This record gives sequence, C-alpha cells and structure tokens, in this order.
Amino acid sequence: MSFTANRLLLFGATGDLSQRMLLPSLAALHADELIDPDLRIIGTARSDLDDAGFRQFAREALEKYLPANRRSKMADFLNRLSYQPLDATTLDGYTELAKKVGPTDGGLAIFLSTAPSLFEPTIKGLQHAGLDGDTVRMCLEKPLGTDLGSSCEINDAVAGAYPEDRIFRIDHYLGKETVQNLLALRFANLMFEPIWNSAHIDHVQITVGETVGLEGRVAFYDDAGALRDMVQNHMLQLLALVAMEPPGHFDATAVRDEKVKVLRSLRKVETGETVTGQYRAGAIEGQAVPGYDDELGKDSDTETFVAIKAHVDNWRWKGVPFYLRTGKRLPERVTEIIVQFRCVPHSIFEGKGATMKPNKLVIGIQPEENITLSLMAKVPGLDREGIRLRQVPLNIAMPDAFSGAVRRIAYERLLLDLIEGDQTLFVRRDEVEAQWEWVDAIRSLWNHDELKPKTYTSGTWGPSAAIALAERDGVTWHE
Ligand code: BG6
Repeated sequence: MSFTANRLLLFGATGDLSQRMLLPSLAALHADELIDPDLRIIGTARSDLDDAGFRQFAREALEKYLPANRRSKMADFLNRLSYQPLDATTLDGYTELAKKVGPTDGGLAIFLSTAPSLFEPTIKGLQHAGLDGDTVRMCLEKPLGTDLGSSCEINDAVAGAYPEDRIFRIDHYLGKETVQNLLALRFANLMFEPIWNSAHIDHVQITVGETVGLEGRVAFYDDAGALRDMVQNHMLQLLALVAMEPPGHFDATAVRDEKVKVLRSLRKVETGETVTGQYRAGAIEGQAVPGYDDELGKDSDTETFVAIKAHVDNWRWKGVPFYLRTGKRLPERVTEIIVQFRCVPHSIFEGKGATMKPNKLVIGIQPEENITLSLMAKVPGLDREGIRLRQVPLNIAMPDAFSGAVRRIAYERLLLDLIEGDQTLFVRRDEVEAQWEWVDAIRSLWNHDELKPKTYTSGTWGPSAAIALAERDGVTWHE
C-alpha cells in the first residue's frame, strides 16, 4: 500500500547512528523542504529524557554533525521532535509510546536502530500497542543477525507483524549516489552492456578501504569482524549491482529480483580463496596508531581485513573472478570497483614495437566520485623508431559534471524513501539470506581450516598473502 508517513518513530534515538546520521539527515531534508511540514518525529530509547531534553540532545548532535550551511531552519526542525523513554525489553511502556505517537492512520514509519537482540521484544511490544497496522512500515538497521539462523529468526519475528512490502532493510551503501550511478552507467548507456561479460571482462575488483580502527565499537566489532561487518552486506550488494542482469524496470521488485539471482549464483569459496588479517600498530597519514589487540586490550582472532576471490556461477560470468577486499587501518579511505577488460584479440601494432594494455573501468564510489575509463592512445610523434602507445584516462568527475547539484548523504535519501514508501534501495529478505548463506560457508571453512588472521601493519594494504591471492592469477590490486 502506498502512503507517505506523517509520523516517524526512531528507536535508538540517543544512539550513535541517530546523532551522526539520522537526525542530521532529517534536519537537512527539513531545511530543503523535502519532508511534509506535518511530519512528526518521535524519538525513543532508554535514556530518561523529556521532549525538551531530546531537542537539546538533537541540537547538540546537529551542531556537531550537520554542516553549518545546512542548519538554517534548525529551530523549526527541533519543533518536530518529541521523546518517550522506553525499556524495549518489557511490554510495559509500549502503550504510553503509542499514545505519544498518536494516530497512525496518516502513516507511521518505524526505524529500529538498536541492538539486534532488541528486535524481537520490540516487535512484540509494538504489536501489543497496536503499532503494526496497515499504515505502519518497519525499517531495520544492520546488523540483521550474526548468521543465517539468527537472521531468519529476526526476519520471522518481523514478518509476524509486518508484510515484506512494508519492511525496509537498510544497507546504507545503496543510498550512496555513486552506487546508484552504477546502474545508470550500466543501463542508461549502450556501450557497456554488450561487453559486460566473460568474453570481454577478465576480472572485477571491489575494494572498500577504511583508515579508521575500532572507533569505540569494541564489543560489537570483535564479535563481528570484517567479513560480517562489511562483506555480508555492503560488498555483496556492490557485487550484485555489478553482476546482475538488466532489470525490466527501476523498481523494487525488478531490481531485487535480479540482485538475488546473482547472490544465489555465488560459488562456495574454497580453501586458498580467502585471506584474513588483523592490524598491528603503524601509521596512517603520518599519525601513529595502535594495533587492534592494543585497542581491544586482549588477544583476539577477529579479522579486521579480508580478501576473497569470488565467482558468480552463471553464463555471463563463467571464469571471471571477483576479487573483494576490505579492511580497517588501510592507507586510504576508498571504495572503488575496477572492471578489467581483456586484451584486444590481436594487436596490429605488435610488429611496430608497441605494447598494449587492456582497457580498465574504475568506478570511484568514495571519497572521490568519479568514473575513469583507461584507453590506449598513440604517443604523438613521427614513430620512426616504432609506434608508442600509452594508457590515457577518460575521466568523469561527478562533482564537476554536476557542480550545481546538492550531494546528499546516503541516509537522507534512504529516510526519504522510507517516509515515502519506495523499497528499491532497501534489501529484501531473500537477498539477506542468500548473503548470509555464502558468508556462513566462508566462516565454516575458516573454522574447519583453523585459519587465523595474519598480521599487517596499520597503513598498509593488508597482509602480503592478499597480494599473493591476486598475483597468483597474474592480477594486481588497483592502487
Ligand atoms: C558500517 C560498518 O556498516 O559501514 C562500519 O559497520 C564501517 O564498520 C561503515 O565503518 C563504513 O561506511 P562508510 O559509509 O563510511 O563507507
């Protein structure tokens, strides 16, 4: 059922995500008059605050995290906010919460940004208080479980109260402008699709590098590790968008139908196709940083880096490896996708001494949003000693190409889509489960092989074994 919500209920309203992303995104949407003036935002969490206290909390968050030039209508925005304290684990407080929310027939969107252990009791509480009717939609923030079993439990609990077409599972990478641009690049241009297959593509690389370390999320991260924190969701979504067949339309069903087919075609990873690492003390951008074990205060076998050679077993991608790598404390914060094309079938310049390099498409997702296609070109000259060819970039910097357009952070778009009810950029249950199935098999392989992470110095691109993983196939990671 399509409706635009006029109530937004935020669970975990005093948490880190709310401070850094949700409240600033909502304030930015408000400043640009993109949300209805009637939309009320109700925060809830354990903290014992009243409306004024929550508004003060939100004001401080906005002063810290919202750029000064987007704070113009802050007082008005704060007036939209109210707050109800709640212990989510008992049914007691939900009736009061429902009273605070008021009538839901104008549409209510609920955003759960809490520990996954609270999902089930919260859903029960919401049902108990009648906050599960036809005009209520439910948005879930990751992590959605720690493996397939726990994810199914959460999904079952949510499905008991809300149908799939009212469940919005966030993967904030899907809200990033350049991630959507990947779809435009592939499906709004004629030239790539005919060569987007194993006949013309040698391999694909997806790198998500981060310079940060644990960032105070000690307990969560040490239980999760890089595979579950980054690969299970963001990286597999990027892979699915690169590898999927053209959907019939840009809508939630068509796009997600195609993504899930890719996720289900992922081949089980074998021994020797993954490398894990854990950072040690080193330096990032000239600053000394401690090792993972120092930050954690104990020894741990959790991986802060993972590299995987993945395969999509279908006609289009037969024999094309997808090299994935992600890690904390790498030299750069960078997310990029590299599509390495094959060599031309025959070089007419070979007899003239020219060396050829195959074309490469680099899709920069962050921090730089640009698309670069490397092409071979002739070095100017009379060529009396042979022809010289060199790779030159055809470069589109998105911020320059669209200099007048506002660049919005992922949560601005995702919150607006949630309020307005567009599921295209949210992850469907079958996708999440296919992602877990593949990742769980990797974890059982690690357990079986008793694989322990190799150490790497902070500020390097992970353990040397990760380089070897690609080099064994004659592939060099793009840097
Ligand atoms: C989150 C992970 O999902 O994504 C974090 O839990 C990670 O560990 C973050 O730092 C990265 O997001 P972004 O948008 O900064 O690339």
